[in-house]
Amino acid sequence: MKQIWISRAGGPEVLEIREAVDPVPAQGEVVVEVKAAGVSFADTMARVGKYGDAPPLPCVVGYEVAGDVVAVGPALTDDVGADVGASFKPGDRVFGLTRFGGYSTMVSVPPAQLYAMPADMTYTQAAAIPVNYFTAYLALIRFCNVQPDERVLIHNAGGGVGVAAIQLAKRVGARIYGTASAWKHPRLRELGAHELVDYRTTDWVEEINRLTDGPGMHAVLDSIGGRNLKRDLEVMAPLARLAAFGFSEPVRKGDRPFLPTLRSVLGMPRTHMLTLLNSNWSIGGLNLGHLWTEVSRMRRVGEEILRAWGEGAIRPEIFAEISFDDAAEAHRMLGERRNLGKVVLLP
Ligand SMILES: NC(=O)c1ccc[n+]([C@@H]2O[C@H](COP(=O)([O-])OP(=O)(O)OC[C@H]3O[C@@H](n4cnc5c(N)ncnc54)[C@H](OP(=O)(O)O)[C@@H]3O)[C@@H](O)[C@H]2O)c1
Repeated sequence: MKQIWISRAGGPEVLEIREAVDPVPAQGEVVVEVKAAGVSFADTMARVGKYGDAPPLPCVVGYEVAGDVVAVGPALTDDVGADVGASFKPGDRVFGLTRFGGYSTMVSVPPAQLYAMPADMTYTQAAAIPVNYFTAYLALIRFCNVQPDERVLIHNAGGGVGVAAIQLAKRVGARIYGTASAWKHPRLRELGAHELVDYRTTDWVEEINRLTDGPGMHAVLDSIGGRNLKRDLEVMAPLARLAAFGFSEPVRKGDRPFLPTLRSVLGMPRTHMLTLLNSNWSIGGLNLGHLWTEVSRMRRVGEEILRAWGEGAIRPEIFAEISFDDAAEAHRMLGERRNLGKVVLLP
């Protein structure tokens, strides 16, 4: 099989195609022939050696794939996949989360992390779903429990997670506010955002509060982190919920240098429980990469996402399909803020 390796910490040029032995399905796993693999912001952080959850370098990253099942390993005696109703046979079209190794033409995955692809879903769309839609669903629905008459602020509204959150918030019927670079606004409006702020040229707190006669946000999804989290508190209404799940604030040209990172960490709010109590706020943190053991609860999230697909409420916004051979260009797109939605790699 072919794999994209991060050969050492560095720029996009450190991505290398290498040959490897085809995987044999481990007990309780299935091997998927990958037809499309999603690219995540975390992959770019792993490439510069600044993503603590990644395997040690050199390594193969990739949190999500879509493809065909080609081999099924022996069942576990206590088969968690079967317990949650996930069993597959060769030829099945599947997609799901991989605990790394997604940048490969073949990968071995526990079936509980896989879902059958609906007939009207392409491999590219399927590979664009797991990271973005699981994260957006958990942040928006589980953590923020956003309601139809509520206002939600989605930071990085034009990123993969941001677009997913817009679609899920529209499904709920919430009023959607977003921050993103200006060139993304027209498309984000078409996707369902009501009000957008170019946070790079405007003070987004002032603008959001002006638009809502605020502080008026009932839910905030923050993937920026650092000092941005402190500013979120300035737009939050009573009974607001804040879901924090990213840390892109100190990232510069695809790298995360030490001093800006330190400034960003020190700039995070140290909100006291009494402040939460008196403000009627709820603040939560989310890391999809630390939920591998929550098999049946994650399974239900996947099923809800598939229900939303079936209703036509969600469709990943595909920004680019890029061949494995040009993986460096895929990473450049994210680092240089050129993407609106998802970048997907094709073997
Ligand atoms: N905790 C979790 O489980 C989890 C899961 C998924 C993603 N995340 C995090 O959520 C964030 C968004 O992920 P994503 O996949 O939606 O991202 P993405 O699609 O790669 O978003 C890229 C966009 O991020 C924006 N951005 C903001 N600050 C940036 C910076 N310093 N450098 C480069 N781009 C920056 C840019 O859009 P604008 O120019 O429009 O701002 C850029 O086009 C990332 O921080 C990611 O690590 C966390």
